[in-house]
Amino acid sequence: MDPARRRSYLKALGIEHYVRRDAPSAAPAERVVATAATAVAAEAAVPRPIEPMPPRAKIPATQPLPVAPAAPPVITAATPVDVPRDWVGLRDRVRDCQHCKLCATRTQTVFGVGVEDAPLLVVGEGPGADEDAQGEPFVGRAGKLLDQMLLSIGRSRSKNTYIANVVKCRPPGNRDPEADEVEACRPYLDRQIELIKPKLIVGLGRTAAQRLLHTDEPLSKLRGPLFEYGPTRTPVFITYHPAYLLRSPREKAKSWQDLKRIHQLLQQHDAG
Ligand code: URA
Ligand code: SF4
Repeated sequence: MDPARRRSYLKALGIEHYVRRDAPSAAPAERVVATAATAVAAEAAVPRPIEPMPPRAKIPATQPLPVAPAAPPVITAATPVDVPRDWVGLRDRVRDCQHCKLCATRTQTVFGVGVEDAPLLVVGEGPGADEDAQGEPFVGRAGKLLDQMLLSIGRSRSKNTYIANVVKCRPPGNRDPEADEVEACRPYLDRQIELIKPKLIVGLGRTAAQRLLHTDEPLSKLRGPLFEYGPTRTPVFITYHPAYLLRSPREKAKSWQDLKRIHQLLQQHDAG
């Protein structure tokens, strides 16, 4: 991982000291120290070491993973049926979509952005005000943090990552998308996943996690283990939403652990 990138992300996170010790026998040799710069100012007056991640072996194809229940296609009255199987058709279909009530309040749909055959797909919740205005996911404050997070592990929407949301239209007042809206929009994200064929899907926050894994479990249960998505059994990893990290800086050190894990999972893929 590029040290300058890592520093810039850690700085954005409010983590000021980053100590890497190259100890061949003791892996992993990274330690993150949260300081009083974080929201835990009072209790972190003395720098706190954060537990390093245990080393993880490469997961053989046969090892059972915690797998989300198989996801049958959910057909609701509003579900668009013959969703186009190509990027141009899909983009056009989403642009004109009126399959849920979010169409009434959006400025425009926010389809997704990035490299169309990227190894990494990042899934957020839905557009906010900035995204609704600009037509691109993650361009507001949380988006800037997401870009820094991705950059710290050598990823970006311009080079090797695709970014999409669970719903393509902004929920009014930035409320969470409702169940019927998530279901109505489901075929579009499903088709995006089919077209991208990512090696790893990273879900940001509860809404993305529950949508990807077809579950009502809380985020605390979903962040950490590796899940699988769809018939391709694409690995799914859940981490915190950057908007949540902006509100809860004390979780940022854990987010950094997650980023390292994501980096590691993608490297495993690169190594074949
Ligand atoms: N939050 C999201 O979940 N998605 C965006 O595109 C922007 C903010
Ligand atoms: Fe269509 Fe999805 Fe927008 Fe609802 S959120 S109108 S299903 S594109």
